[in-house]
Amino acid sequence: MSRHTSVACMPLLLLALAIPASAHEHHNELSEEQAAAPIDTILWLHIFVQTAVWGVLFPTGMVLGLSRSRWHVPLQSVGFALTAAGYVLGHSHKGRAFLAGIHGTMANVMFIPIALQLTLGIYLKLHIHERSLRPWAVRLHGVVGKAYPILGWTQMLFGAITVRGYCRGDNLGQCLAHYIMGSGFIAYGTIMAILLLVGEAWIRRSGRSPEWWDSWVIMLWGIVNTFTEHRGAVWSVKDMQHTILGVLWWTGGALGVFLSRNNQRSVVPSLIIILTGWAMSEHAQALMLSTKVHAMFGHTLMLAGLTRIVEVSFIAPKYAPLEVSDGDSHSDHTLTDTGREEMSTGFGAAGRAFRHLPSFLLVAAGLLFMSATDEELDFVHDLDMDHVTYVLIMFSVAFLLYTLIVTLINLYATSGRNAIAAAADNGIEMAPASKWYARVPVADVDAEPAHVIGDDE
Ligand code: HEM
Ligand code: HEM
Repeated sequence: MSRHTSVACMPLLLLALAIPASAHEHHNELSEEQAAAPIDTILWLHIFVQTAVWGVLFPTGMVLGLSRSRWHVPLQSVGFALTAAGYVLGHSHKGRAFLAGIHGTMANVMFIPIALQLTLGIYLKLHIHERSLRPWAVRLHGVVGKAYPILGWTQMLFGAITVRGYCRGDNLGQCLAHYIMGSGFIAYGTIMAILLLVGEAWIRRSGRSPEWWDSWVIMLWGIVNTFTEHRGAVWSVKDMQHTILGVLWWTGGALGVFLSRNNQRSVVPSLIIILTGWAMSEHAQALMLSTKVHAMFGHTLMLAGLTRIVEVSFIAPKYAPLEVSDGDSHSDHTLTDTGREEMSTGFGAAGRAFRHLPSFLLVAAGLLFMSATDEELDFVHDLDMDHVTYVLIMFSVAFLLYTLIVTLINLYATSGRNAIAAAADNGIEMAPASKWYARVPVADVDAEPAHVIGDDE
């Protein structure tokens, strides 16, 4: 035990040593000059490296871990090396200076999941305690691993906030509202895409319709918002609007839970999304620009709700519960035609294309909402940019983000131990020398979950 533990702790020590004590000093106040200085190359490199690692590399590696690809460990090892370098860069920049803030604090907090994942990962590679501790380590490593994209998203957002000096003082409340709700819509769209592309087997095993889950989340969120959106003695118009939205969500959510019981599809969550979008589109703002961006956000949300109604009512079927639990290694969750035809729409390709609309529009709406705080829009206004350009920038970002999301989902369905099922479903024999996919012998596919990473040669 002790030998293994010390082996596992080595990289941690190295990482700790890699963060130089000679970090730049922190500021409680900034001079005009410090605050306006250009961002130097080191900081640009920091931003580039960390965005690449936490935005693309780690999520890709996570997917390869889930599919037990042999590329998981090499990719995540590179990720750790690069993020360590990124930490050093973040600490050693000159140029523009910043007030001490949440980005630096969060970076320190992130040492915990980094250390944990590294230690657990190495422990897993040692293949010891195979029948006692290891299965629990796999589970914990899986939970922490799935938190990585969320941690990365949050820290990237904090980074952007730091660059612009947003969210200080009175602006904090608005920041929280926009960034949490916006990220919530993006997460909603992402989960919808996952369920749509690889999660049907999971939904069927759960025996609940997707709207049953939606409605619960909306209801609980509504209860929170009912009690948290009003501060001070006076009820401002905004307080009233935000509070009634909370009430709308839990009342509607309750109806949704009831109507989607017994695995029935329901249009109630979509209705709530449409009403929320309408409320947002009518939200009067100080700047014309802001009013227009809010309007576009609201309309996008309304369209997301509308397309979801069409999808629920006319395209996607009731998800018949699965009789048996057959593990995750079956071909149900591949993207191939045969895998889906049996459980999906009678509309074939057209239906499948249509079903991306609600999830994409939710992602786009979330991004628009996140880009609509007063501080951001004041900045855009000062640049003499109008809402047309700004909204289209956000839609471009939405296209990029949704591309990343569906690429990762597709990677899950076609890599590691899913590769063989995907190849079989496609009716193609994959090139035997394919170097991108770790393939598990067919016989293993239905066996106990194989803990095979790195050992499949
Ligand atoms: C997501 C992974 C990231 C991690 C783990 C990370 C970590 C760090 C660390 C450790 C520092 C030094 C903090 C300090 O001096 O107290 C730092 C500084 C900084 N980072 Fe990041 N960062 C990440 C992403 C980003 C991104 C995406 C941006 C910009 C969009 C960014 C912008 C900055 C800025 C402006 C500083 C300077 C703050 C200062 O001097 O106080 N970071 N980062
Ligand atoms: C160098 C560091 C790492 C090593 C050596 C490592 C090793 C492993 C191994 C051996 C497995 C297979 C477990 C089994 O079934 O036997 C695995 C699974 C997994 N890894 Fe890692 N890993 C590392 C870093 C990471 C990171 C950074 C993440 C997060 C982004 C991650 C996310 C996952 C996930 C999600 C699984 C699937 C777990 C499950 O199915 O519940 N790993 N890893």
